[in-house]
Amino acid sequence: MKPSPIIAPSILAADFAHLADEVRAIEGAADWVHVDVMDNHFVPNLTIGLPVVRSLREATDIPFDVHLMITDPERWAPGYAEAGAYNVTFHAEACDNPFALAKTLRAAGAKAGLAIDRDTPVEPYLELLPFVDTLLIMTIKAGFGGQKFLPEMLGKVRDVRRRISAMDLEVRLEVDGGIAADTIEQAAEAGADAFVAGTAVYGADDPAEAVRKLKEQASKTGVRA
Ligand code: DX5
Ligand code: ZN
Repeated sequence: MKPSPIIAPSILAADFAHLADEVRAIEGAADWVHVDVMDNHFVPNLTIGLPVVRSLREATDIPFDVHLMITDPERWAPGYAEAGAYNVTFHAEACDNPFALAKTLRAAGAKAGLAIDRDTPVEPYLELLPFVDTLLIMTIKAGFGGQKFLPEMLGKVRDVRRRISAMDLEVRLEVDGGIAADTIEQAAEAGADAFVAGTAVYGADDPAEAVRKLKEQASKTGVRA
């Protein structure tokens, strides 16, 4: 079974003064909309939080893929699930008990995602795979959009894909950072099946068309089970 690839444009690269329009611009093309929540503590950057997510949720039906780059996710993550996020991803580095938080998120009606930052090895977290819905491998250091894709992160993607296949799990394997026309095929080949793209989508003249092209590239190269 080969799941069709998911493209999740990141609104971090969109015009924050017109978020509703920016999200509507990818309707019909994007599978998820990726929302980067940063607290200027876990990462040295500050973006948006729950009030904006709640309002934006009313503006579109595209499922929200919330990426929490915050400390103390136990305190905040369930609120995003309650606000109607489809998937809520928190960082392994910020969480003492990822198993418990994933369970809480699922109980709150969301998919649960675990993110692994650039400098974190993935091995210690592989045993959590049966208990999450999404595993997000950062292909940059978390904190800012527009950074250069790090191909050396693909080893982690391969390791996770191998484990997902071996255990016959339905976990989405997501990559985030520097994903664009010239990098998405490598990531798909390594086993990713969900792709966050900020600059590559919102920096394009036609964001929806950019999404369609990325999806086409990921589909022709993607995971073979
Ligand atoms: C950065 C964020 C990314 C960011 C990706 O920490 O997690 O989602 O928006 O932006 P690009 O696609 O421009 O690298
Ligand atoms: Zn992100």
